[in-house]
Amino acid sequence: MGKFNSIGKCLSILFLICSLMCWMGAPQVAAQDVAAGETIFKAQCTSCHKIHEQLVGPALAGSHTKYEREWLYKWIKNSQALVKAGDPQAVAIFEEYNKSVMTAFALSNEEIDNVLEYIKVETEKGPEVAVAAGGEAKQSNSMTIFLGIIMALLLLIMLILSRITGTLGEMVREKLGEWVPVAPSFDKKYFNKKIMAAASLLLVVFLGYSAVDGAQTLGRQKGYAPTQPIKFSHELHAGTLEIDCQYCHSGAAKGKSAVIPSANVCMNCHKAVKKGPKYGEEEIAKIYAAVGWDGAKYIEGYKQRPIEWIRIHNLPDHVYFNHAQHVTAGGVECQTCHGQIQEMEVVEQHSSLGMGWCINCHRETEVQFEGNDYYKVYEKYHDDLKSGKIKKITVEDIGGLECQKCHY
Ligand code: HEC
Ligand code: HEC
Ligand code: HEC
Ligand code: HEC
Ligand code: HEC
Ligand code: HEC
Repeated sequence: MGKFNSIGKCLSILFLICSLMCWMGAPQVAAQDVAAGETIFKAQCTSCHKIHEQLVGPALAGSHTKYEREWLYKWIKNSQALVKAGDPQAVAIFEEYNKSVMTAFALSNEEIDNVLEYIKVETEKGPEVAVAAGGEAKQSNSMTIFLGIIMALLLLIMLILSRITGTLGEMVREKLGEWVPVAPSFDKKYFNKKIMAAASLLLVVFLGYSAVDGAQTLGRQKGYAPTQPIKFSHELHAGTLEIDCQYCHSGAAKGKSAVIPSANVCMNCHKAVKKGPKYGEEEIAKIYAAVGWDGAKYIEGYKQRPIEWIRIHNLPDHVYFNHAQHVTAGGVECQTCHGQIQEMEVVEQHSSLGMGWCINCHRETEVQFEGNDYYKVYEKYHDDLKSGKIKKITVEDIGGLECQKCHY
């Protein structure tokens, strides 16, 4: 019975601890307020505000304490009324933000309290890792997995090796008989712990280094699809809306680089198109924040900042690749190299971009001479083709496998 008693005691102590924890977790009411505030904030404020970054309006971190509560109620309910009444604080903010108008909101004081509670919680959390770091985060993630696997493999190899040396040592001893001195390389002292430790440390450092090195190229590989700062969808723009690829990537037909469009190209349409089917105003507001558009006109003196798209396709510096050569002269479709972009919500690298990929296509692809001025220089080929002397001419035949064509 003594044993049962102590188990009983333990159980009741556990129970006590549990109830204590439940009680301490009680400020659930506040958590609900924050959640309610978050809902309102996300539905009504995120088109113009972020907590830690300026968007159309200022970053809101700290604004729950920056102003008096009563003033904030009035401001959020109808900021323009305050401005028109000549409230000095309101006028100052209005002037500072180039007289962009903040919408009026039919919110109760309680609801505003909830929003401010949410702002407080987010302020205390601090800014998130920058959006642009998304790609890196993914990379370092796969790096960790990579390193983990390497470590496990190393351990396994060490185990197997030590088994093998053990068995070998025994075999030698058996073969040579007890009376022959054991070969020095199998002598214990040569395999003592210190040497093993030092050797495996070196191995780990070496393999770790090459793993990191290898992982850095992961981001450049097939399937790479980083999260972009604006949720721009090719499926919507190039697919559903059927906007021509070269409307945006205007360099592809004329130059080396296809070019990512500037925010001003987006504004050709998004001055008028203020909402999308999926994200409402939220994502489009980021274009406005980049160019300084207040919904009706460009804000005077606004310092425009480019949208920081994360680069997906990236050949090493020693390779020369030219879009116009392929798109205009070669007549190769974008999709042959980039896949069905018009079906991608998020762009993904479709091809490996390795040397083998380029070479294979150059071996297989026939050059289209017919009606292509670019190939006037190959008139001899032209004639041979016409007379039926040769059947086809591939990119290889016109020098597409020569090293210096692709390498600087
Ligand atoms: C249409 C855009 C827009 C929306 C939506 C909007 N704001 Fe604003 N907000 C602004 C602008 C612009 C300013 C800067 C003052 C000005 O120009 O009127 C501002 C200023 C503020 C300020 C003062 C901040 C400071 O640091 O000076 C607070 C607080 C604020 N907004 C809260 C909110 C809340 C809460 C919501 C959602 C319920 C909201 N805003 C929705 C555009 C907006
Ligand atoms: C409305 C403008 C627009 C249209 C139309 C458009 N794109 Fe894009 N494209 C972009 C923007 C903006 C990016 C950068 C953001 C991203 O990766 O989604 C991009 C990125 C890309 C990339 C990846 C670039 C990199 O970083 O390596 C490829 C490839 C691409 N587009 C191909 C196409 C093809 C092919 C079409 C036609 C089927 C097309 N795009 C149509 C705007 C456009
Ligand atoms: C030729 C016109 C045109 C151009 C150029 C254009 N867009 Fe759009 N975009 C639209 C239309 C139209 C819609 C809304 C479609 C709808 O409501 O069904 C839209 C919607 C969007 C949406 C909202 C998507 C959603 O599902 O909520 C985003 C974000 C967007 N565009 C970003 C961009 C960016 C970034 C650029 C510049 C690289 C750009 N757009 C260039 C026409 C254009
Ligand atoms: C023969 C294959 C091939 C074709 C065809 C092709 N691309 Fe590319 N594209 C590439 C390669 C390779 C890169 C990477 C270039 C680099 O890193 O320098 C690239 C990069 C890009 C980029 C990133 C920005 C840049 O220029 O480096 C965009 C955008 C793009 N392509 C769009 C297009 C569009 C639009 C078309 C069709 C009009 C097209 N591409 C046709 C192979 C191709
Ligand atoms: C989908 C097939 C395809 C792929 C993939 C491809 N090419 Fe090409 N390439 C062509 C065609 C077709 C031509 C012929 C156009 C011409 O003569 O300029 C060509 C021509 C070239 C030329 C000019 C050759 C010459 O003799 O003038 C260079 C340089 C080149 N490609 C580089 C590359 C590189 C670098 C890559 C890989 C990153 C690549 N290509 C991938 C189809 C391809
Ligand atoms: C059609 C284009 C093309 C031709 C022709 C070509 N290369 Fe490459 N080469 C590439 C590309 C693209 C890469 C980059 C591969 C990568 O990043 O994975 C590359 C990479 C390399 C590398 C670096 C090693 C590597 O895998 O990254 C060497 C070395 C190299 N090439 C040598 C040559 C030599 C030598 C020739 C001539 C026999 C040649 N290349 C012809 C496109 C070409």
